[in-house]
This record gives sequence, structure tokens and C-alpha cells, in this order.
Amino acid sequence: MTQNFARINLLGEGGFGPVYKGPGLKAQPVAVKSLDLEGLQGHKEWMAEIIFLGQLQHPHLVKLIGYCYEEEQRVLIYEYMPRGSLENQLFRSTGYTATLPWSTRMKIAIGAARGLAFLHETEKPVIYRDFKTSNILLDSDYTAKLSDFGLAKDGPEGEETHVITRVMGTQGYAAPEYVMTGHLTTMSDVYSFGVVLLELLTGKRSMDDARPYREQSLVEWARPMLKDPNKLDRVMDPRLEGQYSRSGAHKAALLAYKCLSHHPKPRPTMTNVVALLDSLQGFQDEDAFASGTFVYIVPNENAAVRPVSDDGKGSGSGADEEGEGKRSGDGRRRRNPRQHGNRGLRHRIKLPLSHLVTYSDPALYDTFSNGGDSPVSTPTSFRKPKEQL
Ligand SMILES: Nc1ncnc2c1ncn2[C@@H]1O[C@H](COP(=O)(O)OP(=O)(O)OP(=O)(O)O)[C@@H](O)[C@H]1O
Ligand SMILES: [Mg+2]
Repeated sequence: MTQNFARINLLGEGGFGPVYKGPGLKAQPVAVKSLDLEGLQGHKEWMAEIIFLGQLQHPHLVKLIGYCYEEEQRVLIYEYMPRGSLENQLFRSTGYTATLPWSTRMKIAIGAARGLAFLHETEKPVIYRDFKTSNILLDSDYTAKLSDFGLAKDGPEGEETHVITRVMGTQGYAAPEYVMTGHLTTMSDVYSFGVVLLELLTGKRSMDDARPYREQSLVEWARPMLKDPNKLDRVMDPRLEGQYSRSGAHKAALLAYKCLSHHPKPRPTMTNVVALLDSLQGFQDEDAFASGTFVYIVPNENAAVRPVSDDGKGSGSGADEEGEGKRSGDGRRRRNPRQHGNRGLRHRIKLPLSHLVTYSDPALYDTFSNGGDSPVSTPTSFRKPKEQL
């Protein structure tokens, strides 16, 4: 901008240092986010966004162009991402728009994985903490970039293996050990990545109370089927109409299975995830159609607009799934009282989450939902967090 601080551009020198003339900025479209002080996110999250995105630059992180702080008004200015969020692309397409083809879904998964791997591998690792489809933004060529660093947290340092924080995140994406104990590691992000990968495979939202009860939690419903290639058809998004590499999809399903391990240890690192997804790029086998083919859904004019995932196609019967899926808890419905329909489910919650979450592991459920001796019921775990943003 200043031609490498050329002397010809030097305007003068003050106490702070030299001042140079720059060429000016070209007009470019931007996205302007204005903080709603009445909303769920506050000044700390606004600051975190500036601190993290101001320091970190990567092709798979959205660029923060500027910010403004004037009296009560706080504004963030980002590069504009023409295709909006993955959430919109994957779940909000109407009958007339093309569903995301398999190759594009894999491109998005790899891009987002690279963004997370970068955060985890920097000199001072960063835990993103809010990985979900609405925070993955898409460029015109479907390059994925992570946005929203409001909940991001510096990773453990030195001898520490985890950071303890007040549990904050989005229901349906947060790792079970984090929800239950507040122990946060990069592996919590790996779990959330597994949830998004599962959403890409199935075309279903991680949580949806419009689905039959046993299918409301995508992870609980789908995870037991991911290891079995014979059950792949039940899991895969019917809108893909089989236009994907079966062996590639099976490998991706196995990867999702590992990322979604109940315990953090068996989960792969994001670097391993990137390597595996890279090896699936252009994966073809005999029964696969050409990658990059768009699949069009013939609109049914009589049908009301409903969540795509509600069609039941290829998802197997409830009776069948009961044997496979580990049901948790006592059968009571657990809903966030703030939820109003489907949209509320994906929104951020700050809490003790324990009473809102259905755990996949029945033993953990017994331990943590009964209060009593549960570590999460002790005040220090949630109500008096040691560290917060
Ligand atoms: N840089 C951007 N370019 C284009 N669209 C954007 C950009 N940033 C945000 N959006 C759009 O605005 C929507 C709202 O973003 P925002 O991050 O405020 O909320 P959210 O991710 O939907 O929910 P949450 O409050 O849980 O983060 C996004 O889902 C996306 O569609
Ligand atoms: Mg967001």
C-alpha cells in the first residue's frame, strides 16, 4: 500500500512513528454486523472477534476489514461472502434451486477443516468453540471460510491439557465432555466438525424438533449407522439421488463416526481430518456419477415448504432405529424454553447446558442428569466459571 514504506510516500514523523501516504481503497462489497446490545452476544464477544480475527489470517477464515465503536454502537465489517452461510445453502434451498452436489459438499468440508486445522496448529492454538453451518460462509466458488470468533478461546498452554470455561455454544454441536464438565480442548471442535460433516452427508439439521422424536438429534439417530456400508443409503441425503462415490461417502461416514466419538481421545486431529478428506477429493468408483453434477429437485407445487429433512426418505423406520440407536434418558422431551420452533434450536445458548442436552451415552446421562454427585451440578463447574471470555 505504501510501496513498502518508500521514502517518497513519507508524510512525516511523530511520537508514534512515521506516517505514510497510501493509494486509497478500492470499493468492495462488505458485510456489516451491528451488535444488538439486547441480544445474546455482548461486548466481550465483539472484542474477541476483533482480537482473534485481527491477528489471524488464512484463506479459510473470513477477513475482518474493520470495526467501529461509537457510544452504544459496535459494528464489525467483513469481506462479503456472496453465497452466504452453509446453513442457507444446505437447508434453505427451495424446490427450484439445485441441492449442493456431493463434490461441492466435500469441497466445503475440506475448506472448513483447513480453517479449523489452522487454528489448532498455530503457535498458540485457538479453540473455535462455535463450529456450525451458520458460521461457515461461502465464497462464489464455494470456498468455505469460518466466521464468528466471539466464542473463540486460546487453547491450553504449557502443562495444561484443557481449559475450563463456562459452557457456551450451540445445542446439537457442542461436544458431550465439554457440555458436562466445561473441559475445553481442540477435540471439542473436532466433535462439532463431525456434526457438520454428518449434516453434509445427510442434508439434515443437527437438531430438529419437527422430526420424529427418535430422529430429533441427528447424531443419536445416525451415528450407529455410520460404520455399516449397508446402512449408508439410509443415512445419505436423498436429494443427492445416489450421485456420489459410494466408497468415498463410506469413508466420509467413518470419519464422521470417529469425530463424533463420545470421548475426545479416539477423535482424529483436524490435521488428520484434512489429510483424509484430501484423499477423498475426486474419489470415484464404478457406481459413482461424474462429480460436479447438479441435482435438481422437481418442485411439488402442492407441498408446503417444509424442512428438507422431514421427508423421511431413506431414513429407515423408527422401529428399526430403536435397536441401533442408543436412547438416552427417561423419554421426557428436553427443550430449551427459549426455543420457538426449529430455528431456536441452532441458536447459541449460554448456560449450564446439562439440562437441555440429550446425551448419547445412557450411562453418562444417568450420571449427569440426576444432579446429586454429578460434577456438573457443583457450583464451580458452571455457576462460578474459572475462566470466561
Ligand atoms: N461476511 C458475510 N458475508 C455474507 N453473509 C454474511 C456474512 N456474515 C454473516 N452473513 C449472513 O448473516 C447471517 C447471520 O450471521 P450471524 O453470525 O450474525 O448469525 P448466525 O451465525 O446465523 O447465528 P449466531 O448468532 O449463532 O452466530 C449468516 O448466517 C449469514 O447468512
Ligand atoms: Mg454466526
